[in-house]
Amino acid sequence: MSPRKIIIDTDPGQDDAVAILLALASPEEIDVLGITAVAGNVPLDLTSKNARIVCELAGKPDVPVFAGCDAPLGRALVTAEHVHGRTGLDGPNLPDPTMALQDTHGVDFIIDTLRAHPANTITLCPLGPLTNIATAFERAPDIIEKVQEIVLMGGAYFEVGNMTPTAEFNIYVDPQAADIVFKSGASIVVMPLDVTHKALVTSERNSAFRNLGTPVGTAVAQMTDFFERFDKEKYGSAGAPLHDPCVTAYLIKPDLFSGRCINVEIETQSELTMGMTVADWWRVTDRAPNALFIGDIDADGFFTLLTERLARL
Ligand code: BDR
Ligand code: CA
Repeated sequence: MSPRKIIIDTDPGQDDAVAILLALASPEEIDVLGITAVAGNVPLDLTSKNARIVCELAGKPDVPVFAGCDAPLGRALVTAEHVHGRTGLDGPNLPDPTMALQDTHGVDFIIDTLRAHPANTITLCPLGPLTNIATAFERAPDIIEKVQEIVLMGGAYFEVGNMTPTAEFNIYVDPQAADIVFKSGASIVVMPLDVTHKALVTSERNSAFRNLGTPVGTAVAQMTDFFERFDKEKYGSAGAPLHDPCVTAYLIKPDLFSGRCINVEIETQSELTMGMTVADWWRVTDRAPNALFIGDIDADGFFTLLTERLARL
């Protein structure tokens, strides 16, 4: 089978970085057409720089990187330096990128790429707030039928929220954008906190990255070392959840994951619960399913896959 053509939409972020590395290490399954940066964990100037740092770390400076939207659709940008550090990629000491940012706006790249392909052929992989994807869908609704699948990290049901008591960061930052995407009619797979909180970088798993003895293995170990301090303190967990790599791992080995096809709606009105993913996990409404909402992961299989693939870079 030929590799799936994907666009990674991202706000790196250490876990975004690992998701990108996993995709770039897996050319048999994944063909990365381009990476679009969005404001999220840190402002756009940093996410668009970090995406290029990661491509160069992977030895893939030819992957085109585009800067997209610098602010959510209807709200002020909220960032997460408290988790990811001042640069968004704190931990390793990586050189500034030498590869250039593309001139085209990220949203135009998404629109142009989808328009240039047949229906149902491009997979979108959003790893941050959904601003770029929603803007593209609003501006060019004809592209929605070109989407094979949207596999995104965001939301929560059982874990409820990590940014507010009821909202996960990516959805909280741009709930209007999330609402547009979840109502778009595109086929959606969601990696919520319910599953990513089961993908924990324990010290053994972190050592496996470090023991690769490569620049990529060392950088990934240092990245996860850095941002795990926050979650360990907050949740008392054995290590940090690797949220975003669940998206790219799903493209390679979907059997590692299981979930339910359910209805998911986004709260966009109440300030108290803004950005909540109202997921009908128990199917107590007659609202039509619009997403495969993942709930479980074979965590050992996931980390084995990740470590094996990172070893290739
Ligand atoms: C999500 O928010 C970001 O901080 C991470 O990169 C991930 O995409 C987890 O809530
Ligand atoms: Ca992210």
